Amino acid sequence: MANKFYITTPLYYVNAPAHIGHSYTTVAADVLSRYKRMSIGKENVWFLTGTDEHGQKIKKAADEAGLAPQEFTDKISVQFRELWAKLNISYDDFIRTTQERHVRTVERALEILYRKGDIYEDKYEGLYCTPCETFWLKSQVKENLCPDCNGALDKIKETNFFFRISRYQKWLIDYLQDNPGFIAPPSRYEETLSFLRRNTLNDLCISRPKERLSWGIELPFARNHVTYVWFDALINYISAVGEFDENARYVSCLWPASLHLMAKDILRQHTVYWPIMLRALGIELPKKVFAHGWWLINEGKMSKSKGNTVNPLEMIELYGLDAYRYFLLRDVPFGLDGNFSQEGIIKRYNSDLANDLGNLVYRTLTMVEKYFDGCVPSVDLEKEVSDSNALNIIARVKGIKNEVSLKLDELNFSLALEAIWGLISLANKHIEETKPWNLLKEGKTQQLKVFIRLLVFVIREVAVQVYPFMPGTSESILEQIGEDKIKKGQPLFPRLLT
Ligand code: MSP
Repeated sequence: MANKFYITTPLYYVNAPAHIGHSYTTVAADVLSRYKRMSIGKENVWFLTGTDEHGQKIKKAADEAGLAPQEFTDKISVQFRELWAKLNISYDDFIRTTQERHVRTVERALEILYRKGDIYEDKYEGLYCTPCETFWLKSQVKENLCPDCNGALDKIKETNFFFRISRYQKWLIDYLQDNPGFIAPPSRYEETLSFLRRNTLNDLCISRPKERLSWGIELPFARNHVTYVWFDALINYISAVGEFDENARYVSCLWPASLHLMAKDILRQHTVYWPIMLRALGIELPKKVFAHGWWLINEGKMSKSKGNTVNPLEMIELYGLDAYRYFLLRDVPFGLDGNFSQEGIIKRYNSDLANDLGNLVYRTLTMVEKYFDGCVPSVDLEKEVSDSNALNIIARVKGIKNEVSLKLDELNFSLALEAIWGLISLANKHIEETKPWNLLKEGKTQQLKVFIRLLVFVIREVAVQVYPFMPGTSESILEQIGEDKIKKGQPLFPRLLT
């Protein structure tokens, strides 16, 4: 498909329930998918998400829950799906790394690389962090502690299989230099490139002996080993949408992905390991990798171990789904870190949603009801509007789709919303300045008709533009404010008491 959009989220680990951080990436991917479906057609968009179910972390969580790993992952994976349903996530496919289609592709990829000589067996002796499933060099470590999680490292001596990534370092540097748009935002591109320029890549250990870890995909050429969880998980992006044929050629009508979305914590896996894996397999690279920032709690990272995670279900219970989706994408520029607080949501809710959008819709509905018996007056705006304020508003309505598109194509969600809210403010200001109650008193019926028609015109366009962000709200507005008739419902965003 020439003009298609294939977008992915990370596959989330099923060792713990999802928190607002996971929902952030997934909601962002949902907004982009909905926007693209509107602009290039439903049939050209493919939105993939899913769960990462192998490895030590998952095995440990299953043991703690007293369940067999498969049973445990079945259970948590369903919880993710249920959460995405509640958050109105319109994914097209949900992949689990325990699914047969995925396992098959991982095995084929391993075989192909092994035959090619890109995977080789070697003795390994070194320091290993079990929770992070990462090997560390002596030079990277201080006081035997993991540089990532600060936990104690284990000394390990064993035979393993290695992926010859060192062979591809120069190629990757050249590729990045030639394709600066491959990694976004630009700060992440710089980060990756300077990492590659400053360090020599060590070959990646892609196996774990089964006696140490049984919960994984076996290496087809060494059944006493399982595949390293990252090697396994990254393959999902291709295993979900295609297959290797008998000549070891990867065939898919959706690949390459248009966009891999994630947070900065897993940038390197996606901008170093993954491109090299694809290159070694003779597969085209994705078009773009975008790493956004983190939601922090009191300026610190959220984590299960700190016990400071926020449950998205609680947030939507308190503030409603669309207010939550709006807040996530409006409050912090995509790419930067942000501090999550309920005061922050309440502030946005009351000002942007209750005051600006909610009021505009409610006031307009009330006026149509009161002045015109619920029928939207039919007026040819092009012919009847002459005052400069109204003309300006019409121009803004006509330009808004373009403005929003430009921002969304750059993944600049907050500016896209700002543009829509600019129009909402203009309409609210127009109401205050026009003082429709006076028009009525003075018997200026035609002016009143034009005025109402213009508001309906604005609101219906606003509803279309907010659709990717707040699908439910958009539908409700369009239902309440029809082309010709209204059907007034409850206020969209009743003010929250603070
Ligand atoms: N299983 C791997 C990914 C494999 S992808 C082939 C993994 N899983 S994870 O469950 O830890 O999810 C990490 C991702 O969750 C982040 O990259 C980001 O998309 C999202 N987030 C987790 N915590 C987050 C925040 N505090 N803030 C923003 N996003 C966060 O890594």
